[in-house]
Parts: sequence; C-alpha cells; structure tokens
Amino acid sequence: MSDRLYIFDTTLRDGEQVPGCQLNTVEKIQVARQLESLGVDVIEAGFPISSPGDFNSVIEISKAVTWPTICALTRAVPKDIDCAAEALAYAKRKRIHTGIGTSDSHIRYKFNSTREEIIERAVAAVKYAKKYVEDVEFYAEDAGRTDNEYLARVVEAVIKAGATVVNIPDTTGYCLPRDYGAKIKYLMEHVDGIDRAIISTHCHNDLGMATACTLEGVLNGARQVEVTVNGIGERAGNTSEEEIAMILKCHHLDIQTNINTQKIAATSRMVSSLMNMPVQANKAIVGRNAFAHSSGIHQDGVLKNAETYEIINPKDVGIDDNAIILTARSGHAALRHRLETLGVEVDEEKLNDIYQRFLALADKKKDVTDDDILVLAGSGRTASHRIKLDYLQVTSGHGVRPMAAIVVDIAGEKFRAAAEGNGPVDASINALKEIIKRRMTLKEFTIQAINRGSDDVGKVHMQVEYDGQLYYGFGANTDIVAASVEAYIDAVNSFKH
Ligand code: KIV
Ligand code: ZN
Repeated sequence: MSDRLYIFDTTLRDGEQVPGCQLNTVEKIQVARQLESLGVDVIEAGFPISSPGDFNSVIEISKAVTWPTICALTRAVPKDIDCAAEALAYAKRKRIHTGIGTSDSHIRYKFNSTREEIIERAVAAVKYAKKYVEDVEFYAEDAGRTDNEYLARVVEAVIKAGATVVNIPDTTGYCLPRDYGAKIKYLMEHVDGIDRAIISTHCHNDLGMATACTLEGVLNGARQVEVTVNGIGERAGNTSEEEIAMILKCHHLDIQTNINTQKIAATSRMVSSLMNMPVQANKAIVGRNAFAHSSGIHQDGVLKNAETYEIINPKDVGIDDNAIILTARSGHAALRHRLETLGVEVDEEKLNDIYQRFLALADKKKDVTDDDILVLAGSGRTASHRIKLDYLQVTSGHGVRPMAAIVVDIAGEKFRAAAEGNGPVDASINALKEIIKRRMTLKEFTIQAINRGSDDVGKVHMQVEYDGQLYYGFGANTDIVAASVEAYIDAVNSFKH
C-alpha cells in the first residue's frame, strides 16, 4: 500500500503575511472553500492573537468548511494558545500549531535564553495546548539552521509532551535539498518515539530550493508538507502546493495525496486574483506559459503526439482549451456556471451585479476569460470605498503634451481637477494629486495584461508611500490609464488617516 502524504495549506497564514496580499474574512472563506474542494488536509487559517481580523477569520473559516482540519498558529505563550483555542471553537477538526525558535541565533538573540530553557518552554507550550485540543503541532522555528543533535532532543521532548505533528521549518530558505533531507532522516533515525508523530516540512524559497527541499524531506520520511497556492509567502515565498502535487502525480513514488489536481488552475487563479498577486508567466504548473509551446519544432511534436514535449496533460491541472468562452451573448446561467467552476459562489443579487459589469466588459472585448470573471467578481469590494473615480479624460499621443481632466467622488461630493504630465498616467495622477493633497509617492507600478490581444483587460498593481508606510492598490480595466488611476485611488482608500 502506498504512503499517505498530508497537505497542510498555509496560504491563509504564511501566504497572507505578504504585504498587500491581505484578504478580508469573506475572501478568506472563499479561498478556504476552494481549498476544501481541492482536497487539502489541513488549512492554517491564521494567527489569532495577531489581530482581531485574524481571530475572526479563524472562527468564520471554522464554520465554513467541514473536512479539512483547521489550524491556528501561536507562539509558545499561554495567552496565544488561549486565544487560538477560543478561535477554533467551531472547527469540526482542530489543531493548535505552537512553537519556538531553536537555532542558536534565535535562542541567543531573539530569546536571550539557553538551549535547556527553550526545551522547557517548548514542552510547556505543547502541554498547555493539549489541555484544549488533542491535535497539537509543534514548530521548531529556524530548524534549517539548528544543529541536528539538539533538534532531535527538542523533537523527542515535544513528542513526549504530546505533539502529534512536528514541523521542521527551513525558515530562512537556507538549506540545500540534500542537507534538509539528511536532517529529516537524522530525526527519523535518532528520535525515540518518532513513530508517534508525523514529521512535517515547511520550506521557504529564498534560494529557489523550497520545492526541492520539501521533496527531499518527503523522500526521507516526512509525511506532511506545508505549502501555499502559487508558492506565495513572505519574501520569496513558500513551497508551492501545485508543484508538490504534480511531482507526486508525475513520478510514481508510491506516495498519495488527497489533492484533486483538476482544481489546481482554478485555485491558482482565485488566489492570484483575490490577493492581487500576479503569477509569473513561466511559473511551473500554473504560469500562463506553462503549457504554451512556441518553437516550431515543439509545436510540430506536440501536434503529432502531446507526450513528445508535455509531461503533464493540461487537463490534469484543470486547464481546458475547450472551456466555454463567455461573450456578450452569454446569459446569467452561463455566467453563474463559470463562476461556480471557478469556486465563486454568488447569490442572485451579486450575480446580477457581476452580470451588468460583465456585459459592459463584453462590449469592449470579444471574449471574456476566467481571469476577467475573477476580477469582475472581486471588484465589488471598491463599492464601499470613500473615494471613487467618477470621470477621466486623457489627451496624449505623438507631439502632444499629455493632459488629464478628472472628477473624483469623495463621500458623495464631486471634486474636479486637470493637470499635465510626461505621459497619460503621470498627467492623470498629477490631476488626482490636485484633489487629494497628501505627501504621497508612487513606489512601484506594474501593469499586466491578463491574457492576450489589444482589447485585453489590464491589471495594475501599485505601492504608494504615505506617512512612512506603504499602501497597495489594484485596478483592472480595458483602459490601462483608468486602471492605473483606480489602483492609485484603491491605495489611497486604505490610508490609515
Ligand atoms: O517559517 C516558519 O518558521 C514559520 C513558522 C511560524 C511555522 O512560518
Ligand atoms: Zn514560514
């Protein structure tokens, strides 16, 4: 019989820690439901003590999903554990994930402590969490740089205290795959009682080795992997869920997961769209070029027999070339069906609202794609914004000084301005700044066409600095200048004062 590998999804915790990727509770529920249908075993729903928003999200996700275990993160501190236990009250299956740094630098500089004291604190935290739940996972933060002998002592102690899962994070993404694999092997061979717990991998991608390290961990005995959709996460991200799922499917390693790989593409798109986090075009499995053969030799080979250059059938990850494309003639039922396929549930009122915006978009471009639909489904969030773009007219071209005239609605009152600039976006933002007179600076500006073609919807991501803080904005429009102004206004709407 093949071994079972548990998939622990931390998109909503480690993934969501990325600046600009924060979701509201409704969006988190949408992602959690999609993860459930993808077949993950554990959803790390948040770090409840970190904010009332995280606390509330863990509660609501616990109510919204049935099968996956809901996990809440804590430090090895009683008040964190109390808070996590309270947030997990409604979960049908629940887990507390507690832990502490174990590398010498964490022990010395973060905790000003000793190795012995850290073991005592680890054991105390596990025992404390056990008062609330049976399923307690312990993480040895910076285990990647913790020496193996000491790590084995920590792991042994926490298993003895009742930990059901022990997480070995390569927090800084430093390990070479062979060293990470050897670390897991060492633990499997030297820890008394190791068969009473599951060893988990948790790898970061700072050197681009997260997936390779995770795989080495699994090949050496780890039976849970901590991953995120699209590999999102702090800095260079975490191990990518879809890469691990497809490696195990393509190679016959006798290790099974519960992942329904046909849901991968829709999950990837949903997370990318809700988190405003574009997926790089050549990203393995889910990048838009992942299955695009452009060289003549490859195209010829693939047309003769797909296996010549394709190791994965795109249909296995849910990419269907024959998927229904929506056009201006598509009705409510087709739109609802498409939304459901993409994992978005809507009531009649929301469907009507999306449908009106869909018709407006379908008027401007021939085919409305899945990405467009996800943007439309998410764009309702700007409805409650205090500041809205009401009107924008731009003159630009060759030999013309770009000019923009703008009308902005602020809490129901209209404000008008006009300005010049070195291009249409610059002119529009100068005009906007005439109205919103704050000392703010545009720090980052990326434009991405969702699919192909000059009639495409452009997505704009922006970082705006104000009062020493960075704010993120997003806009999507077939008019790229309007999308840029929408993104700027989106950022301004999130200013704290
Ligand atoms: O990377 C890490 O060490 C973590 C732990 C908090 C599990 O995310
Ligand atoms: Zn992490």
